[in-house]
Amino acid sequence: MGENSLSPASITSDLETQFIGHKVIYYPRLTSTMEVARREARLGAVEGTVVIAGEQTAGRGRLRRVWLSPEGSLALSIILYPGLVYLPSLIMLASLAVVRSIEAVTGLKSQVKWPNDVLVNGRKVCGILIESDVQAGTVAYAIIGIGVNVNLRLSDFPEVLPLATSLSEELGRDVSLLSLIRRLLVEIEGLYLTLLAGGSIYEEWRDNLVTLGRKVRVESGKIRYEGIAESVARDGSLLLRHSNGNLTKIVAGDVTLGD
Ligand code: BTN
Repeated sequence: MGENSLSPASITSDLETQFIGHKVIYYPRLTSTMEVARREARLGAVEGTVVIAGEQTAGRGRLRRVWLSPEGSLALSIILYPGLVYLPSLIMLASLAVVRSIEAVTGLKSQVKWPNDVLVNGRKVCGILIESDVQAGTVAYAIIGIGVNVNLRLSDFPEVLPLATSLSEELGRDVSLLSLIRRLLVEIEGLYLTLLAGGSIYEEWRDNLVTLGRKVRVESGKIRYEGIAESVARDGSLLLRHSNGNLTKIVAGDVTLGD
C-alpha cells in the first residue's frame, strides 16, 4: 500500500486513542465529509466516529465558501457529543491539534489566524469548520471538519493563490497523509480529554495566534471593523482596539492581517 493509500484499518490499527477514530468511515470520493458526518450523527454514531474522504467534490468552507479538496489533501470530520460549555472551545481544540500535528509529522511551525485558520509562512494550509446542533440547551451533536492542503501543487489551483500553501510545497517533498491523520486524531483526543477533565487549552491556543498585536480588518456579518487585535477572551472571541481607544469584542469573523 502506498504512503497515501488510506483505509479504515490503516487508520485505526494500533491507534493510541481511547475512542476517537475507533470507527472510521472512508470514501475515496464524496461530496463533503460534513454531510456524511451529519447523517451519521443523526443516526446516533458512536462518539469519535471519523468520516474521511480521499477527495471531496463539494467541500464546504466557512461563510458558505467552497473548499477545494482534491486528492492529496486531508479532509475529515469528527463527531462529538460535548456538553454545551465545551462548544466554544472546539475551535481552539481543532486548530491547536492541527498545529501540533503538523509540527510532529513535518517539523514545520504553523500558526493560527483567528479564529481557526492555520498558516505556514503566512499562507493558509488548513481550514476548520465546526457545526453543531443545539436543542433546548443540549448539544445533539458537534462536528469538527478539518481540511489540510497536504500534497498539493498550488500552481494547479490559481484561484486560491497567493493566499494558500500546502505542506508539500513548504517542505519540497510529499508528506504521509496517513501519519498526519493518525497524529491528528491522537492530538484531538488529548485536547478533548483535557477539556473534559476541567483543564484549559486557551493559553496554548492564544500563544499560537499570529493575529495578536497586528493591525487587522475584520468582517463580521455586514460589519467591517479595523483596529489592533489586542487579545482573545477565554471564550475565543477577539478583542479589537480601535484608533479612538474603544474596544470591540468580536465573536466570529473573517480577518485580514495588516502590519
Ligand atoms: C474554511 O477555512 O473555510 C473551512 C474549511 C473546512 C474544510 C473542511 S474539509 C473537511 C470538512 N468537509 C467539508 O466540506 N469542509 C470541512
